[in-house]
Amino acid sequence: MKNIAVIYWSGTGNTQQMALAVAEGARSSEVEVAVKDVGSATLQDIQNSDAVALGCPSMGSEVLEESEMEPFVQSLEDLDLKGKPMVLFGSYDWGDGQWMFDWEERMTGLGVKLAGDGLKVHITPDEEGLKLCRELGQKLASSI
Ligand SMILES: Cc1cc2nc3c(=O)[nH]c(=O)nc-3n(C[C@H](O)[C@H](O)[C@H](O)COP(=O)(O)O)c2cc1C
Repeated sequence: MKNIAVIYWSGTGNTQQMALAVAEGARSSEVEVAVKDVGSATLQDIQNSDAVALGCPSMGSEVLEESEMEPFVQSLEDLDLKGKPMVLFGSYDWGDGQWMFDWEERMTGLGVKLAGDGLKVHITPDEEGLKLCRELGQKLASSI
């Protein structure tokens, strides 16, 4: 069975809710889905997955969370990710979504194949936001 890793950082739970909905959407296909907080994720989780969903809210000033997510994303540079299907998601509040645009560009630069546009949800995902998360998970699952 193909497998997907959903790896996220979340301070107040909004991106975590998104992660769970992305996983739910992906599971509607015949794939095995593992959801992990980035603190317990390793590069092997990325390497051993057919596709990956990464989630992180906009933090600092339009950047990834700096103590756990940023180092993890930086360490992805050590892997060969050419053609790896991936989607990105995260919650934000007052910004214009720049953190997501920057993140997408960074990941594309590593050769990953983004299976959909980075999903930005304003603060706590409502029913529509959760639906978009599930759809993103489905899209990722159908790309492998
Ligand atoms: C320290 C800090 C910095 C933040 N910086 C931004 C920012 O630059 N742009 C933005 O849109 N939201 C910013 N936010 C808001 C968060 O992205 C928002 O609260 C989000 O819902 C948090 O997601 P989480 O519940 O998964 O932690 C910031 C929040 C905190 C606590």
